[in-house]
Amino acid sequence: MSGHGSPKPMSSAPCGALSGVAEVPGDKSISHRSLILGAMAVGETRITGLLEGEDVLDTARAMRAFGAEVTDHGKGEWSVHGVGVGGFAEPDQVIDCGNSGTGVRLIMGAMASSPISATFTGDASLNKRPMARVTDPLALFGAQAVGRSGGRLPMTIVGAADPVPVRYEVPVPSAQVKSAVLLAGLNAPGQTVVIEKEATRDHTERMLAGFGAVITTETTGEGRVITLTGRPELKPQVIAVPRDPSSAAFPVCAALIVPGSDVLVPGIGLNPTRAGLFTTLREMGADLTYENEREEGGEPVADLRARFSPDMKGIDVPPARAASMIDEYPVLSVVAAFASGVTMMRGVKELRVKESDRIEAMASGLRANGVDVEDGEDWWSVTGHGPGTVKGGATCASHLDHRIAMSFMVMGMATQKPVTVDDGGPIATSFPVFEPLMRQLGADLSHPGA
Ligand code: S3P
Repeated sequence: MSGHGSPKPMSSAPCGALSGVAEVPGDKSISHRSLILGAMAVGETRITGLLEGEDVLDTARAMRAFGAEVTDHGKGEWSVHGVGVGGFAEPDQVIDCGNSGTGVRLIMGAMASSPISATFTGDASLNKRPMARVTDPLALFGAQAVGRSGGRLPMTIVGAADPVPVRYEVPVPSAQVKSAVLLAGLNAPGQTVVIEKEATRDHTERMLAGFGAVITTETTGEGRVITLTGRPELKPQVIAVPRDPSSAAFPVCAALIVPGSDVLVPGIGLNPTRAGLFTTLREMGADLTYENEREEGGEPVADLRARFSPDMKGIDVPPARAASMIDEYPVLSVVAAFASGVTMMRGVKELRVKESDRIEAMASGLRANGVDVEDGEDWWSVTGHGPGTVKGGATCASHLDHRIAMSFMVMGMATQKPVTVDDGGPIATSFPVFEPLMRQLGADLSHPGA
């Protein structure tokens, strides 16, 4: 929900070798979609391994507000009794999506082709983020949006009483926009077509097929052309949510930069639209291996083993890989500070409109801790000088952004002096057990002034 109380400063001090098994929580993207698609199916969807972070809990509350019965059975087991496509009730209260861009954008899509209205809000970070990228295509279905200037939340969506299917080329690489259009397309008669020039995470497409929708993806000269037939009856599913590669990134990267470390991160989803960070780290010379590769619930999964890697080199990260590691650039920039040479990250303008402007947030925190960073509108580069060379000692602003806070905590494990963030509270949005999990591996995390 909006805000998470007063700021909670958090420090990470240089630590000894990290070792052990890091069981990271369920995938955030798949968790949101499990609840939303479960709410749009007829009957009971059962979910195990749901991420119980604040972002997903806000989506669970929202689905209840639209009329679905959502039950927490404990230990990541949830059930959703759905109301069917087009069956959403009109919420009688404002929908607060907290910090979650994925939550608000997907839910707006899911309700926009039904004859109901809903008002959405979020925390100070979410209320700054652009929503026109979603409300523009939703208007093509016949929905109307009234928000603050610049298309910001709080915002009311008046759903289309008589929705028409659309053909929409997504102008920015965004799985949230693609998914919002597909979810709106569910309740429009006929075929909704979404075209994306660059492949973004495809969980919505995979899960819609799993729920019984007729959906096809073709790769043509235009890009990925996704065609969905509207008004299906979605069948409830049994979903085992794989562990989140975006959360695995933190213990993996910590192990690579802390001398002597050897950490196993089991059961990580390695969907190719998500695994770009691990490919990049291996190209840099990281000692990162995939063990026990398998398929679970239609997604490729492996156990990741990460060991201290003293000889990593800076590389040019191919811009074509950006979408598959978009949430991982902050922690990659930390690893780059401990590699030798320049790591160049281009084609990453989207980082400027995440939970924070992630280029600005990381660049200023890295510089304050003694790292060389250059940046432009859609690129940035970090020059590293190898293990043990980063000073640390500064306090960084986390800007209500969980991934910024966790990245700086990882950095402090390998700097000469501790690194502090002004607020570790946002970590609970996606990785509520970050602190005990990292401590159990050997991290020295503390709360100054607590
Ligand atoms: C997400 C898509 C990405 C990502 C976000 C989760 C999703 O956002 O950054 O954390 O679950 O669809 P964009 O669609 O804005 O790239």
